[in-house]
Amino acid sequence: MDIFSIDELRKTFTNGDMKEEILKGINLTLKEGEITALVGPSGSGKSTLLTIAAGLQPASDGKVLFNDINITSMTSEQVRDIRAKQFGFVFQFAHLVPFLTVWEQLSLMLDVSEVKINNEKREQEIDYILDRVGLSNRKHAYPSSLSGGEKQRVAIARAVIHKPKVLFADEPTASLDTKKSKEIMSLIQDLTKTLNITTLMVTHDEEMLSYVDHVVRMSDGRVV
Ligand SMILES: Nc1ncnc2c1ncn2[C@@H]1O[C@H](COP(=O)(O)OP(=O)(O)OP(=O)(O)O)[C@@H](O)[C@H]1O
Ligand SMILES: [Mg+2]
Repeated sequence: MDIFSIDELRKTFTNGDMKEEILKGINLTLKEGEITALVGPSGSGKSTLLTIAAGLQPASDGKVLFNDINITSMTSEQVRDIRAKQFGFVFQFAHLVPFLTVWEQLSLMLDVSEVKINNEKREQEIDYILDRVGLSNRKHAYPSSLSGGEKQRVAIARAVIHKPKVLFADEPTASLDTKKSKEIMSLIQDLTKTLNITTLMVTHDEEMLSYVDHVVRMSDGRVV
């Protein structure tokens, strides 16, 4: 089933009098429970495509269909609601809140996504996901005491704690060495399969493509 599809998506940026078309009619479908990687040269429009797909910025033309609902024609409140409850995000850097513990970062995300659970269940859910990312022993640690790889594991836990349908990841391994990158990719692969999450990720690293189900190559605003 296609949980997510992009139809003739276009994006034009205006700088002064200059108009530049950055996405030139993108068509793409994501299959449920699979990982799709976007690869291509710097400036080819990968991050722009990912952020429009995730409802973080508007399209100039075309459709983004999530469960057959066109999110490009929704109000910003409706998109915000879908983003908070049904989407998860991972970026190049973990962007953890420096004054919250690992547990608190995850608990906050449950609140943001308005997951209705009692305290006991909250503990269970957080313990479960920390176990899955191999950080059970760092539950009460602050970000400053975590390594780069551990921080990215927390970011991944935070991205999936509310059981999103779609995970968007923009160069999730770009700040890590090869060994850590492979660990993070196999974690994303494992979580995608077992939690049945559909993942769209951007990567520069061809070595990471062995962990994904589909590769979409972009060049100059087009899928090639
Ligand atoms: N808000 C914006 N205003 C104007 N131009 C923009 C804006 N956002 C992106 N662009 C331009 O769109 C093009 C594509 O940018 P994008 O960030 O999508 O590329 P990318 O493929 O993710 O590159 P990289 O691999 O370097 O991250 C670039 O030329 C960029 O300068
Ligand atoms: Mg980018």
